Amino acid sequence: MSTKLEQIYEGKAKKVYKTDDPELFIVDYKDDATAFNGKKKGTISGKGVINNRVTNFLMEKLEKEAGVPTHFVKELSERETLVKKVTIVPLEVIIRNIAAGSMSKRLGIPEGTVLPIPTLEFSYKNDDLDDPLINDYHALAMGLATREDIDTITTLAFKVNDYLKTFFAGIGIELVDFKLEFGKTTDGTIILADEISPDTCRFWDSKTHEKLDKDRFRRDLGNVEGAYQEILHRLFGE
Ligand code: TMP
Repeated sequence: MSTKLEQIYEGKAKKVYKTDDPELFIVDYKDDATAFNGKKKGTISGKGVINNRVTNFLMEKLEKEAGVPTHFVKELSERETLVKKVTIVPLEVIIRNIAAGSMSKRLGIPEGTVLPIPTLEFSYKNDDLDDPLINDYHALAMGLATREDIDTITTLAFKVNDYLKTFFAGIGIELVDFKLEFGKTTDGTIILADEISPDTCRFWDSKTHEKLDKDRFRRDLGNVEGAYQEILHRLFGE
């Protein structure tokens, strides 16, 4: 059993703690919700519990069934999970199957347009700069990652998409887009970290196209908690 020691980081949705094992951290999911880089703030009741379970369920499947290495070690409680210690690569890796959000806005592609091929974007993870969109040359020039890291991350991100797109289709959900973060372990291996949840993915009901994710909070669409509960229901039948 790993003991929770001092907090080393608090993000917008999670806290991270050291443990008595130098190679393991504990993440603790909060109900706090922010959007537009913290400009909009609120609470989504029960979100932390749902995001913890959803993330762990998906990471375990990705690891076992798709061969994607992840930071997941063990769920400790409703909100807490033991994970491998990593240094986060400061890139937000966004995969899109259907145009929505910032892609639709920036490129004038109507929301809901199915993209002929999945696309990948990098943003530089930097709150002061509002996580600007960058390309791989920027990432290399700024020393955010090596060419090898970027190639590994790209391969793994598309692998995650192939697996999750099919998986979600099976439970009546279109995986529109999502954001991943990767980390480096002490021995330099790139693994999937952070979370995969309704906070970080766009999920649309396959039949009604109803939004079942954080866009309900971002866009004031109402029934935010209901959408998170619906994802739990589709995954676990609860
Ligand atoms: P975007 O359309 O706003 O760029 O978002 C693309 C995807 O990334 C969407 O599923 C939401 C997710 N996302 C995050 O997880 N964190 C963020 O800070 C942003 C901007 C988007």
